[in-house]
Amino acid sequence: LPHLLHGERATARKGLTSDVPVAWDGDGIEFIDQRALPREFVVLKARNVDDVVDAIATLGVRGAPAIGVFGAYGCALAAQQLGGTELERAFARIREARPTAVNLAWAVDRVRARADGDYLTEARTIHDEQVEMDRLLGESAIELFPSTGNVLTHCNTGPLATAGGGTALGAIVAAYRSGKSIAVFACETRPLLQGARLTMYELGQAGVPATLIVDSAAAITMRRKDIQLVIVGADRIARNGDVANKIGTYTHAIAAAYHGIPFYVAAPRSTFDFSLESGDAIPIEERRPEEVRIAEGDAVYNPAFDVTPGRLVTAFITEYGIIRPPYFESIPDLETRPNFLAAKRH
Ligand code: MRU
Repeated sequence: LPHLLHGERATARKGLTSDVPVAWDGDGIEFIDQRALPREFVVLKARNVDDVVDAIATLGVRGAPAIGVFGAYGCALAAQQLGGTELERAFARIREARPTAVNLAWAVDRVRARADGDYLTEARTIHDEQVEMDRLLGESAIELFPSTGNVLTHCNTGPLATAGGGTALGAIVAAYRSGKSIAVFACETRPLLQGARLTMYELGQAGVPATLIVDSAAAITMRRKDIQLVIVGADRIARNGDVANKIGTYTHAIAAAYHGIPFYVAAPRSTFDFSLESGDAIPIEERRPEEVRIAEGDAVYNPAFDVTPGRLVTAFITEYGIIRPPYFESIPDLETRPNFLAAKRH
C-alpha cells in the first residue's frame, strides 16, 4: 500500500514496541506507523495538531481505543502550543478526525473536561486505564473459549489497536496463554488489510497459531474448519446491542448465526455509546474510492464500518465481565456501574 506511506521518521525510538504503539515524548507523541506494518517497523512523531489529525485520519494510529488514547495525548500536545479559541478548535478537529469510533470523542471530551487543565495527566490516566481494562477484559473472556478449537476474528484488535493488551485479540491471547489450544482464522479485512497485515503480525509475535483467509472465505471456514466461536472488537455499541465495527463484521455475524456459532464482541465500556437507542444513528465513515477502485472512474461505495444488529451478538466481553441479553436491560445497567479503575487509584 505504498500510497498510504508518508510521514517523518522519528529520530529516536524511545523503546516503542508493538505492545506500546503510542507514547508521550515531552513535546510530541511517538507512534508506530500502522500503515507501514508488517513490511517496516517505523516510528513517527506527531509534533502538532495537524500531525495528530493526519495520523488518525490516515490510519497511522487506528483501532477505537488506540485513537482514544492518541487523541487524548493530542489534546495535551495542543494545549502546550495553543490557547483560547485556537485550542477549542484543535480539540474539535481531533474529536472529528474519524467519526465512527466513539472512544475518540469520549477521550477528547474527558480530557477537555479536566477542571485543573492538567490534560497530560488525564491522557496518561486514560492510557493506564486502557491497559488495565484490556487485562480484565481478557481475563473475563477465558471461560468462553473451548479447551481446544478454532476461532475466527476480523480486523485488528490487538495491542496496536488499543494501546493496551487488546480487546478481541487480547482475549484470544489470554485464552491461549491460559493453556487453551486455540488456533485462529484471521480475515484479511479488505480494503486496508488490518487482518492480513496487523493481526497476523501480532498473533505471530504472541506465538498463537494463525491462518489467514480472505473475508469472503469466512462462511466456508465456519463450515469446514469447525469454528467454535467468532470474536471481534467494536467501534461503537448502542443501548440495544447494535455494534459498529470494521466492514465485513455484519456478514460474519449472519454467517455465524446461520451455523449456530457464538458471536462475541469484546470492548471496554468506553466503546458503548449510552446516548444511542440503536445503531441506526451511528455515523459510518465512508473512505476514499481509491482504497478500492481498480479502473479509473468506476463508482465506489466504501463504508469503513457496518452495524451488526444486537440480536446477532451472543454476548459482550468487557472489563466489567460478560454482558448478556436482553441488552436493553444489561447495557443500561453497565452504564450505572462505578468506574472501579478510578476508585482503585484513590
Ligand atoms: O479502521 P480501523 O482499522 O480503525 O477499524 C478498527 C476496527 O474496526 C476494530 O475492530 C475496532 O476499532 C476495535 S479495536 C480494539
